[in-house]
Amino acid sequence: MTEDLLHKVNQIRVWKPETVIEIENPDGFRLIGKGKQGAVFQIDERRCVKIYYHSKSCQRELHTLKLGAKAGICPEIYYWDTQFIVMEYLTAPTLFDYIQQNGMTRELSERLVTLLDTFEQVGFNRFDHSARHIFIMPGDSMKVIDVVHMIKPTPVYLAKKLIGDMGMYGHDFVNFVRELSPKWYGHWSNHWEFEEVMSQLR
Ligand SMILES: Nc1ncnc2c1ncn2[C@@H]1O[C@H](COP(=O)(O)OP(=O)(O)O)[C@@H](O)[C@H]1O
Ligand SMILES: [Mg+2]
Repeated sequence: MTEDLLHKVNQIRVWKPETVIEIENPDGFRLIGKGKQGAVFQIDERRCVKIYYHSKSCQRELHTLKLGAKAGICPEIYYWDTQFIVMEYLTAPTLFDYIQQNGMTRELSERLVTLLDTFEQVGFNRFDHSARHIFIMPGDSMKVIDVVHMIKPTPVYLAKKLIGDMGMYGHDFVNFVRELSPKWYGHWSNHWEFEEVMSQLR
């Protein structure tokens, strides 16, 4: 590469314009949230509807939601169509909020290990999830939402988002998991990015 060519290459800029989301909601249902796949509205006290931009992602998430719901780790599903899914509206605190209040405990780590084991049993193979999408249900269960990408072409073993979302509590979590589950600890600690994930916790 000549300096001149390198200079020219350095001047190329590539960006993605922010995608604009349009919503038409004549009955004024409460918008709970929106993300990459669609928008979610509360339709009564116990149910919400996720309306997808693309029917493919609706089909795909319906499949993973059903697998998860059967094992009790996803919202119950009540109805679906090509472009939407009506499901249980979760009001329990998310793992993200729960940790801010309660910190990380051995018991919570155990529950998360059980959740990862259940991912494996139901056929999910992305063993990672954002703490904002995990709900701490009363009793000892947890439910996850936004599962459209839980089945990947190749397994994802390092729980980057999960540990990362815990901030400084990620250290406690990993230490508990080292004792509780040599299997998951082994998957993580043998991963080439593990040290980097741990060094970024604060
Ligand atoms: N079953 C549910 N119960 C409660 N809140 C939900 C539920 N499903 C989605 N939400 C809320 O709506 C937001 C967007 O839904 P999500 O499934 O993450 O959509 P996307 O796939 O577009 O990211 C979530 O971050 C969450 O706050
Ligand atoms: Mg989301």
